[in-house]
Amino acid sequence: MILKVFDLSKSYEKNSVVRSVSFDINHSDYVAIVGPSGSGKTTLLSLLTGMLKPTSGEISYNNEKLSRLSKSGLSRKRATDVGLIFQFSELIGSLSVRENILLPAVFTGKFSPDEYNEKCDYLIEKLELNDISNKLPRMLSGGQIQKAAIARSLINDPDILLADEPSGDLDPENSALVRELFSEYNKNGLTILLVTHDMKLAFDAKTIYEMRDGQFTRTLK
Ligand SMILES: Nc1ncnc2c1ncn2[C@@H]1O[C@H](COP(=O)(O)OP(=O)(O)OP(=O)(O)O)[C@@H](O)[C@H]1O
Ligand SMILES: [Mg+2]
Repeated sequence: MILKVFDLSKSYEKNSVVRSVSFDINHSDYVAIVGPSGSGKTTLLSLLTGMLKPTSGEISYNNEKLSRLSKSGLSRKRATDVGLIFQFSELIGSLSVRENILLPAVFTGKFSPDEYNEKCDYLIEKLELNDISNKLPRMLSGGQIQKAAIARSLINDPDILLADEPSGDLDPENSALVRELFSEYNKNGLTILLVTHDMKLAFDAKTIYEMRDGQFTRTLK
């Protein structure tokens, strides 16, 4: 089991945003969480990244409790083993698209420079970023920034991808590119947990959970 979430809750003062959520994710699973705005999806993902501390409950990756990891251990894990796509992605303004995609490589050195360049070329090709790979973020559309952030999240070949609305800024054609890429990586063993309002993307997943008022209410698939 790659991820185990047990009785996880998060409150802001009296407002319970995530309420006693439990679920497991196995290696190579593809899981989508859907649900209305404000139901706690982004909060749940932030808890899973370790960037937000839960009020109670436990999260384990490969049987290792997230709460036991040191700050540096947590950062290392996030950089090497976990791919992250945020709901509102940001790129480093002074770096080109290609440099942004390769940035996690600088921090982790998981692969050789040649391997990183090869992976980067592949992701640029797959996401049709060729024409903009040398541009700075301020010259890009929201959708182009989102695609670059998706490429960046996969450059280290993570064990698990946590993605919050990865196709939120994309038109149907570009959403299809992302869906294809995710399905391909999942077939090759990547575990995916994503949050989405895009039902086409959700239905690519093997399992769909519905979240309402901070709780998992139904399994839709
Ligand atoms: N830092 C915070 N302090 C207080 N309340 C917060 C905080 N962050 C989120 N909330 C509240 O938690 C609830 C859930 O927010 P969250 O962002 O997790 O929703 P969501 O399901 O991701 O919604 P959307 O689909 O619109 O992205 C909201 O009511 C929000 O106001
Ligand atoms: Mg959200």
